[in-house]
Amino acid sequence: MAIHFDEASRVFYLHSKGCTYAFGINSLGMPEHIYFGSPVGEDLSFGKYSQTGRSHVAIRTDETGKAYDLSAMPQEFHTPYGGDFHTPSLVLSYANGSRRSDFTYTGFEILEHKPALKGLPALREGQTLAVFFAAKGVKLTLSYTVSEKAAAIARSMKIENLGSTPVRVEKAHSFAFTLPNLAWKAVYLTGASGAETHWQQTSLDRGVFTLDSKRGTTSAAMNPALAVGLPETGENQGQAYGVNLIYSGSWSISADRTSYGSVRVSGGISEFDFSWLLEPGESFQTPEAVLAYSNEGFSGLSRQFHDLYRESLIPRQFVKKPRPVIINNWEGTRFLFTLEKLKGMISRVAGTGIDTFVLDDGWFGKRDDASSGLGDWFVNEKKLGGPLKDLIDFTHGKGMRFGLWFEPEMVNKDSDLYRAHPDWVIRTPEEEPVEAREQLFLDLTREEVRSFIADTVNAVIRSHEIDYVKWDCNRDMTEGYSLALPPHRQKELMHRQVLGVYDLFQRIVEANPNVLFEGCASGGSRYDPAILYYFPQVWISDQTDAPARAKIQYGASLCYPLSSQSCHVTESPNRRAKHLTPFGARADMAHLGATGYELDATKLTDEELSRIPGQVAAYRADEDLVLEGDLYRLEAPVGGSNYFAVCLVSKDKTKGKLTVMRLQENFNEPERKLFPRGLDPQVRYYVPELDRTMAGNSWMHFGICPKFPDGDYETQVYHFRKENT
Ligand code: DGJ
Repeated sequence: MAIHFDEASRVFYLHSKGCTYAFGINSLGMPEHIYFGSPVGEDLSFGKYSQTGRSHVAIRTDETGKAYDLSAMPQEFHTPYGGDFHTPSLVLSYANGSRRSDFTYTGFEILEHKPALKGLPALREGQTLAVFFAAKGVKLTLSYTVSEKAAAIARSMKIENLGSTPVRVEKAHSFAFTLPNLAWKAVYLTGASGAETHWQQTSLDRGVFTLDSKRGTTSAAMNPALAVGLPETGENQGQAYGVNLIYSGSWSISADRTSYGSVRVSGGISEFDFSWLLEPGESFQTPEAVLAYSNEGFSGLSRQFHDLYRESLIPRQFVKKPRPVIINNWEGTRFLFTLEKLKGMISRVAGTGIDTFVLDDGWFGKRDDASSGLGDWFVNEKKLGGPLKDLIDFTHGKGMRFGLWFEPEMVNKDSDLYRAHPDWVIRTPEEEPVEAREQLFLDLTREEVRSFIADTVNAVIRSHEIDYVKWDCNRDMTEGYSLALPPHRQKELMHRQVLGVYDLFQRIVEANPNVLFEGCASGGSRYDPAILYYFPQVWISDQTDAPARAKIQYGASLCYPLSSQSCHVTESPNRRAKHLTPFGARADMAHLGATGYELDATKLTDEELSRIPGQVAAYRADEDLVLEGDLYRLEAPVGGSNYFAVCLVSKDKTKGKLTVMRLQENFNEPERKLFPRGLDPQVRYYVPELDRTMAGNSWMHFGICPKFPDGDYETQVYHFRKENT
């Protein structure tokens, strides 16, 4: 049984594929975390550590006189006061101003089918445990979902006001658990727009380590993910834990190394400028968080996240389906395209295997730069030289499908929409709203605004043959205020806006079930599991320089499967970085995700053009590895390393692929050996690039020394094919 309650010890055991999570109800009626890690039997004990005989600590005593120190108690949620001095994960304030909540256990339920989280994206399946607690008229439900697909569990919390006076939720993290007193290190992803998901590492010493976004969106500065490991944990060995929030608004994850040495980890909606009023009868549902485990290092941890998201989160009809190979006009033309230019680009690549043309920003309203037009989702026929249908027909005539860019959540001041509804934007009554990229957020807490956007966007998609939509979001939130909310609910705005975004996603995705949606937010500013619930892939960065992208793609794979990373071949020298990167190397890097090309195709040389069919064929031949394979990260292109290396292996271990990039050519650099991972040790694999067959264990232990041509940013790819397949 995946979830089991041991009545005698009052311990809940949650067994997912490859991990066990356990917590018990102690004699104070509080839930104590016991264990998270490799599968174990149902014979654990708990409760001793926080029992105390000391008199100089704050004491809570049960009916039998047993004394507890709450600060030492590893609970499944932590409330302030009453003896707990560490970072709380749940803060409620009551009508009389008190913020103390002494929740006690009241019961549990095991649900075979996971209930949906109202208004929020979440894992779609898994046996679910709901555990109930009560205090001062509030019912608290902790939910735990186990997975048959991965070593992970999902957690969320619901707060219901069953009393007769209002309750205010001041902080409501989705999960909390405690790691024992060991020398933990943290791995996390930081950056900026254009430099997203850079791998960072630090040790978790005494104090509170916090990752967060206060931007109202997920943020490129930090991704809502934290991995922790022990000193010996590396990419491919050691214990690793990971948390990842299924949420796209302001968030926080904290790790509080307490005076007892243990580390309290909790995460969820950011407490910054947040509160939520619960009138009697109302409830609040937190987003879901994923907790994953591996004893095969950080790469092993990533494989758990990847399997879980592919099996239980990403839309089923797309997740394992071959993706379009795209030609997108943005980097080639930006806003300033002509019909002739677009047709020229399409014609140039027709017949190469590139199968979808995506028309990016600039096709609607009055839109020749970022200053105007957002919100006016009607085709600019003057700029396009006729109806959009003509361009779509032209694209179809060349044997390709058609995709279109939208940024539905936004409006420019210089737009018909803003002129008609200036009060539809997020702003305070007094100040002028702060512009970013010359645009403002529409107030998605308002039903009429959501309906208007859904109707106009759906009308464009429905009235044209559109197979793909790129959904962009090019700014963070700068105003914590809605003209539609009363003063005492203003701190609800940031979260209400996110709920509005999800409602909008749902209405538009549901209305267009055959359209593949790609998420984007100035690149990867909104790359999180919640987005993947609606959109199977994300444009993860506007940084398209292959060596710089190597860092971004490497980091992003900590939690997100390669199939969710949209990666394009762009021009060289790169627009910003000015690096000269070989055409083949750019393709090799772009083949580690949902691939495409994004450049002015009319400027492709004949030699480059002649190589595209081979590149697309190579991508298609191994696309299954991107869509379903196991990822083994071998070498991070950070911290002075001169290499990027990853290995992909099919689930049945009949094939694999090792991709390596050498960043800089160094005169007389010693040769570098790489050791592939994940192959079947007994199976013999042929590697065509080396024209050699060896057993999997020989490849993995003897290794490969890549030979690079002269020059920077060269790649080598080695394919492993099971003999006689
Ligand atoms: C930001 C995206 O990241 C780009 O790819 C492009 O779509 C622009 N927005 C268009 O404005």
